[in-house]
Amino acid sequence: MIVLGIESTCDETSCSIVKDGRDILSNVVSSQIDLHAQYGGVVPELSCRRHVDVIIPVLERCLDQAGITLQEIDLIAVAYGPGLIGALLIGVTAAKALSIALNKPFIGVNHVEAHLYAALMSHHEDVEFPCLGVVLSGGHTALVTMKDIGTYALIGETVDDAIGEAFDKVAKQLGLPYPGGPQIESLATKGNPDAFPFKPGKVKGHSLKFSFSGLKTAVLYTLQGQNAKKSLPITLTEQTMCDIAASFQQAALTDVVDKVVRAADLSGSTTVIFGGGVTNNKALRLMMHERAPHLTALWPAFGLSLDNAAMIAGLGYHTFLNKGSGDAMDLNAATRIPFE
Ligand code: KG4
Ligand code: ZN
Repeated sequence: MIVLGIESTCDETSCSIVKDGRDILSNVVSSQIDLHAQYGGVVPELSCRRHVDVIIPVLERCLDQAGITLQEIDLIAVAYGPGLIGALLIGVTAAKALSIALNKPFIGVNHVEAHLYAALMSHHEDVEFPCLGVVLSGGHTALVTMKDIGTYALIGETVDDAIGEAFDKVAKQLGLPYPGGPQIESLATKGNPDAFPFKPGKVKGHSLKFSFSGLKTAVLYTLQGQNAKKSLPITLTEQTMCDIAASFQQAALTDVVDKVVRAADLSGSTTVIFGGGVTNNKALRLMMHERAPHLTALWPAFGLSLDNAAMIAGLGYHTFLNKGSGDAMDLNAATRIPFE
């Protein structure tokens, strides 16, 4: 089955052709980083305007690279949420329009679940369910038990910032451009992770819930301590920047790995599936490997960690087969979708 995937939940416009849920024939991603970098984060109105501008060229390039025509598509899968409403509407409307024009079914896919599917797509051996799913992205931080593809139960999430958001905000405090995750990771390789005693957040009575806002504020106080007047630009040595990045990253990632190990233990899972942009972080992968050798960790291929339409097409294939039909035209874009 040839599936066209469409992704436009936030700041990437992507179209992909995937055969039978796994075989990626093309995966074209147009990133808006250049557009939002100057504002230090995603500006929703600019995001949806850029999606409008590029969705058709991205679709054309994706068909071209896959060497197929529109008529050869059997199913259109689109990320219908969660995400920014204006951005989502562009992808959902494109999918519906193609579905009507080609007389082919379309199916809505949950973007967060697709991040977990990205790791399954990247591994060709069969995965034994149930397992633990860990979503670490710019918008979500969640622990779920997965009984199968499409059957999830939420067991932990963040009560404030998502982990990627914390990386982005700390980077902004350090004067680094958006997105901050890769910047922090790169500085951290040259820093001392024990230089600053940052502590991961605890949520009283909830051992699987995350909180990153206190950690972000601790970094801010450390920076302001360097310069009492907030309005003045903070001047830090290159080494202090690296030490702050390394100490922040260590605190945040240690917290993630601790909770993943606890959740795997509590849920009796030995396989852990990771998804989301933060899984690009090599220090996280190494820490998980060193701290939890008893767990089998499945990571998305590096090209499938960040937002992309291949994971949407891949999961769309399974959603369509499970459901036995496509979605109706009244399927709406959804800014929030509960995990279940
Ligand atoms: O999954 P994603 O592409 O978008 C969402 O669905 O949110 O994730 C983007 C997030 C950003 O917050 C970015 O800073 C973070 O992933 N990120 C990283 C790294 N690469 C991207 N965070 C830490 N280390 C990285 N290497
Ligand atoms: Zn995402």
